[in-house]
Amino acid sequence: MTDAGTRVVLVTGASSGIGLATAVQSAEASDHVVLLARGRSALESAAEKCRRAGAASVRVAAVDVTDADAVGGLVADLLASHGVIDAVVHCAGVVAYGRFEDVPEEVFDQVISTNVLGAANVVRSVLPSMRERDHGTIVLLGSVLGTIAAPTMSAYAISKWGVRSLARQLQIENRDRSGVHICCVSPGGVDTPIYLQAANYLGRVGRPPPPAVSPEKVASTVLGVLRRPRARVNVGAANPLMTFGFTVLPGVFDALVGPLFALAATDERHRVEPGTGNVLRSVPDGNRLRGEQAGSLTAIALILRSRAADAVRTATRR
Ligand SMILES: NC(=O)c1ccc[n+]([C@@H]2O[C@H](COP(=O)([O-])OP(=O)(O)OC[C@H]3O[C@@H](n4cnc5c(N)ncnc54)[C@H](OP(=O)(O)O)[C@@H]3O)[C@@H](O)[C@H]2O)c1
Repeated sequence: MTDAGTRVVLVTGASSGIGLATAVQSAEASDHVVLLARGRSALESAAEKCRRAGAASVRVAAVDVTDADAVGGLVADLLASHGVIDAVVHCAGVVAYGRFEDVPEEVFDQVISTNVLGAANVVRSVLPSMRERDHGTIVLLGSVLGTIAAPTMSAYAISKWGVRSLARQLQIENRDRSGVHICCVSPGGVDTPIYLQAANYLGRVGRPPPPAVSPEKVASTVLGVLRRPRARVNVGAANPLMTFGFTVLPGVFDALVGPLFALAATDERHRVEPGTGNVLRSVPDGNRLRGEQAGSLTAIALILRSRAADAVRTATRR
């Protein structure tokens, strides 16, 4: 806390989706918010939302989390100006779709680098000052994909297993500091633009599987974790079922995950050309609060209808 009793909260990935919703809710709690992402224009618009929401102060930092020096420089600057960082919510993340052998090496490596090494860079920069004061909370955004496997999402799933592992390692190593909390919040499907922004070598667009929740719902869970830290938090009613199936019934899981993923987590009606999406560089125009893809169950119904129409067309042609 600053002398005035307000929190200093650093949010990475703050220009879109869960990070944006978290930054706005932190601003509503009158925190000093620091917004980090690569693209400046979307950050400026997020900053305006935070100002209107009542932030004690707003600062934007156009920084790539894979740039350890830039992250370290920002954190040193914040400590010099505020004296403390009370909380970090690490939301910066990217996705690539495609069979393992179809995703270019550069894209695969950058997903791992952003999601895992980016988290490590952020933690490495803030943890020493938190340990010194025995005060501070770090929230890492994991995913249900950090506990299971899904076809055509190798780099992302590997990265989220890595994030969950990083959180567990840090929880064990920081048991000697009761005031320092490392928390991993793992959502299932969330209605954000990450699916549309993803690199794609699958040919069809990805989308949040049902039951998708809003970014505001994840953000309010994160704000709850900042008030009352918890090591592991799931957001999404289906997460425990998926993890149970993967762990206890691997044969059944492996047989079902392919067809279910195609139906519930991609939209075969919307073809996409191969491309790197926002993985290698920011695509600021695509950053916003929600993905606004059709409601999950409606989308599944539409896909089934289009599959049925295709089947009828094929049968009539014969
Ligand atoms: N949406 C879901 O269904 C879902 C489910 C489970 C977990 N999650 C996790 O939740 C987190 C937030 O996801 P989201 O859905 O809110 O994504 P999003 O809407 O696409 O937002 C991603 C944010 O990260 C920033 N970012 C990307 N690469 C960066 C980099 N190298 N350095 C700094 N900032 C970077 C983006 O801005 P720039 O591109 O301008 O940098 C953007 O602000 C991610 O870790 C994601 O894996 C999401």
